[in-house]
Amino acid sequence: MSILLQNGRVVTADSDAVCDILVEGESIAAIGRNLLTPLGGQVIDCTGKIVVPGGIDPHVHLEMPFMGTFSSDTYETGTRAALHGGTTTVIDFILQKQGHSLRSALEEWQGRATGNAVGDYSFHMAVTDFNPSTKVEIAAIVAEGITSFKAFMAYKGSLMIDDAQLIGLMQEVKKHGGLVTAHATNGDVIDTLIAQHRAAGMLSPRYHYLSQPEVTEAEASGRFADLANYAGTEAYIVHMTCEGALNQVRNATRRNQRVLAETCIQYLLLDASLYEHDFEGAKVVMSPPLREKKDQAALWAGLNQGLVQVVGTDHCPFLWEQKLLGKGDFSKIPNGHPAVEHRMELLFSEGVGKGKITLQKFVEVTSTNAAKIFGMFPRKGTISIGADADLVVIDPHKQHVISAATHHMNVDYSAYEGWELTGKIDTVLLRGQVAVDAGETKVSKGYGQFVKRSKTSF
Ligand code: URP
Ligand code: ZN
Ligand code: ZN
Repeated sequence: MSILLQNGRVVTADSDAVCDILVEGESIAAIGRNLLTPLGGQVIDCTGKIVVPGGIDPHVHLEMPFMGTFSSDTYETGTRAALHGGTTTVIDFILQKQGHSLRSALEEWQGRATGNAVGDYSFHMAVTDFNPSTKVEIAAIVAEGITSFKAFMAYKGSLMIDDAQLIGLMQEVKKHGGLVTAHATNGDVIDTLIAQHRAAGMLSPRYHYLSQPEVTEAEASGRFADLANYAGTEAYIVHMTCEGALNQVRNATRRNQRVLAETCIQYLLLDASLYEHDFEGAKVVMSPPLREKKDQAALWAGLNQGLVQVVGTDHCPFLWEQKLLGKGDFSKIPNGHPAVEHRMELLFSEGVGKGKITLQKFVEVTSTNAAKIFGMFPRKGTISIGADADLVVIDPHKQHVISAATHHMNVDYSAYEGWELTGKIDTVLLRGQVAVDAGETKVSKGYGQFVKRSKTSF
């Protein structure tokens, strides 16, 4: 099947021109002006529209077992919702169970994803118990195309590893050319503050926020950068929220170290005032928590300064009935919020539309940089001959309103309810198939494929 996307403004991280794109099978076959309409093929008129590479969200949690429950999007619902929002590939986190092997965790996640995903996906491996037997599994995990490893520096007792394990993980992953990523917050300090608040009867969602002050993230980010520098490992900080953590990344550049950083759409657009609305604040209980306006300004600047390379979501939805598990105690509210469907449109409207970032920066941080950092470039993350035809057609002027009543994520609220956005995704192609058109899903469960990744090329 051939598809010609005609006369769109085609934007990549390093080019911007009005032209046509010819898709043959799963890939891009030609890019140019006045390409011939393929015999029997489909033509999509992109006049007045913007065409960008399919989005890559490298931070999602689908059916994640966490805090006594599971995040509410499955591989089917989560990747379908992602496609509606122009994200054609997601990277989920496999979580090793402490005391168990990496291989058994991989098989568990493969069982969830295989045959169920609608959009493409890959995995990071979260090592929650680095020990001699885990150590010998790292090479085989890299060989499976899972080249990034995650360390949780918080959530003691379930996911956290200590510094001894962290340095060991870094040394081993380095041997195999992989990338170490971290949830960089100081778990011990956070647990102490949680205990203090609970003992004083301070139990509302606001105390979730007050138990994770900026210093807990800044300190752990600096420690992570220092250890990675010592180990000589490529390092990537997930879901960075604040100025203090960003300054640690900036400091690392002063010794010519590169620490890569991801922020998430919510940290750019939402702030901690949402915790003031009593239990409603549970909707945005996530870790790290939302921060202050000054942190948002620092993060926007960090994107433009090239210190923050990626905007993900940390999509980890819980239904309202799940959030109610923490009604009388903030420490029992499942941490996470839904966003995978709206990342691209939110960033387009509030970032590009309001002059905070350029359109090319938008492409970099929603797609290209993640493809390079996580070893998928140039198959994904760009528009070039031979690349997967993962393409997103945006109507830059169309206005729409976000609502839980119309979104595709399996969750019954949205932190962005009622937000009016300018710029709407019209059509999404995934590996040469129209996956979404005019709000309708055109591919089914099972179409999504595992993306085997190479080493970082950023
Ligand atoms: O609140 C969050 N972020 N939930 C998901 C787990 C994590 O820390 O990424
Ligand atoms: Zn995290
Ligand atoms: Zn996460």
